[in-house]
Amino acid sequence: MIIDVRPMPAGEIDLSADLITLTNSRGESVSLCNYGAHIVSIRVLDKRGQIGEVCLGQDTLAGYVIGDKGYMGATIGRYGNRIAGASFEMDGISYLLHANNGPNTLHGGREGFDKRRFSYALGEGSVTMRYISPHLEEGFPGTLDTQVTFSFNDQAELRIDYHAISDQDTQINLTNHVYFNLGTDSDILNHRLQILADRVVEVDDALIPTGHMVPVDGTPYDLRQPQLLREMMARTDNAMFTAAKGYDIGYVLQGEGMREIAALSLEDTGRVLRVLTDQPGVQCYSGQMFDCTGRGGVHYGAYAGLALETQQHPDTVHYPAFGSTRLQAGDTYSTSTVYAFSTSG
Ligand code: BGC
Repeated sequence: MIIDVRPMPAGEIDLSADLITLTNSRGESVSLCNYGAHIVSIRVLDKRGQIGEVCLGQDTLAGYVIGDKGYMGATIGRYGNRIAGASFEMDGISYLLHANNGPNTLHGGREGFDKRRFSYALGEGSVTMRYISPHLEEGFPGTLDTQVTFSFNDQAELRIDYHAISDQDTQINLTNHVYFNLGTDSDILNHRLQILADRVVEVDDALIPTGHMVPVDGTPYDLRQPQLLREMMARTDNAMFTAAKGYDIGYVLQGEGMREIAALSLEDTGRVLRVLTDQPGVQCYSGQMFDCTGRGGVHYGAYAGLALETQQHPDTVHYPAFGSTRLQAGDTYSTSTVYAFSTSG
């Protein structure tokens, strides 16, 4: 594994950060930036033996700092997904968060981990990014020491290990918001997607959970067998799907422990992405709201990329039946996700 560190091109901004690239023996690579612990680039082989880009990204740091880019490639913290009413209660104390999505908190608040500078240390084929979030940052209790290790190997597996420890009981739900596109089309509609889940977390028009988990049977959310996204997107038989203009939903995953939970593939390039995680849920977001400039000045429009954000279920702070996102003081939060790339055909 070759590790290359260089300044991230700044663009029209007076800030600096580093770009760290891990390159395996086949020439495939993953690039990370310590601003927001972003995944900037993933370049892997296709079925013709050509190496190419498979995630959305920006050329410059300014690209990540300025404007709404849909959390492209960012590490999300302290709390991925939505918290209704931008507040939660713990042990009789109400914690008020920053509302950044109407009256609700999305992806950690106004200045979540996606906007924080991480320190980093290089390992064998890996880089560990670290950020110490002060007590009550964005309203969350406890000083939270977070480490995110990104590893890449010769099998083109990108592994993300999250660890965190807090000096007070707190709530945490870390994830990564990388958007995949396994080819060169401007959208992901020719991709096939499989998610091993029998239920989804029902949401209202503001994408806030209702507290119910509903079966996927007979809906466009049923991805237990691989489905062509173009066909799924054309469906008009589900009000929640239509209101969201596609996938923006938390899946309740089958099984427990580290396991394969989803697969994305594209016939044209023969690329296959398998997702493994130990988490109970994954937010599938089909990028319907995209309207921004991306890598190489290309316009990213609706469905430019697909995010598979492994996590605890949205708004778990308000629904004990969804599980628990509570981290006790002194305990170690630990979770892992693998994005494994291969080719077929
Ligand atoms: C959310 C979407 C949101 C997107 C970009 C996703 O995780 O589920 O509702 O538009 O992130 O912010």
